[in-house]
Amino acid sequence: MKTNRRPFVAGNWKLHMTLAESAALARKLKAGLARPHEAEVGVAPVATSLHVVSQALEGSGIVVAAQNMHWEDRGAYTGEISAPLLLDAGASHVILGHSERRHVFGEQDEGIRKKLAAALGHGLVPILCVGEQLSDREGGRTTDVVLGQLDAAVDGLEAEPLQTLVIAYEPVWAIGTGRTASPADAQEVHAQIRARLATRFDGRLAESLRILYGGSVKPANAAELLARPDVDGALVGGASLEADTFLPIVEAAG
Ligand code: PGA
Repeated sequence: MKTNRRPFVAGNWKLHMTLAESAALARKLKAGLARPHEAEVGVAPVATSLHVVSQALEGSGIVVAAQNMHWEDRGAYTGEISAPLLLDAGASHVILGHSERRHVFGEQDEGIRKKLAAALGHGLVPILCVGEQLSDREGGRTTDVVLGQLDAAVDGLEAEPLQTLVIAYEPVWAIGTGRTASPADAQEVHAQIRARLATRFDGRLAESLRILYGGSVKPANAAELLARPDVDGALVGGASLEADTFLPIVEAAG
């Protein structure tokens, strides 16, 4: 049973859409979600669109997430954006440790740990991504890699500040490839993540935190994935770029 965990469906727009396109999609989602739905919904536009998207979504209940942030608040960090500036632009959430950050831009566990602590310290809701590469899965290292990333990210943190944490399990081989983990595979890893949170922190925290699945989630496979007891929502890339493919995923979440 998912008991008290409210499903969460977040669209990761990655490096797509201009200001005008982002605002137009935000308005479409606002209109499309005007009728009652159970799931919490979020979108993560490119940084330059955070402000217009948050304005377009005002009063909609749809939350706005950044796709990354730096752990320092200010200083000589050319090209970086800090938590206070994301909040200033209208974001309430931030995706951290996405596999593209880890594997295309070389982000390491230690930096992700600092980002997580900084996001929590500023009251941003972190969406922490973890996931194994194909070679890890084929080599039987899925659990070690995923739980290792989780352990490294929460190192030094207590249960109390983690109450808002959202985790996204995203097998790297399933992202943007059209290959999806089977609902059973996803459930297995989600249950392992929850069990690790229970042993590391406490059972109450582990039961309350939401664990999203990400990797080629589409209207056609969403319901099956979301029906699994430990799959509490979805982080959606490609299918979040059109209202017609994103809204049915939100509906599948309830
Ligand atoms: P995808 O991306 O849905 O296009 O596979 C998911 C993600 O990277 O968050």
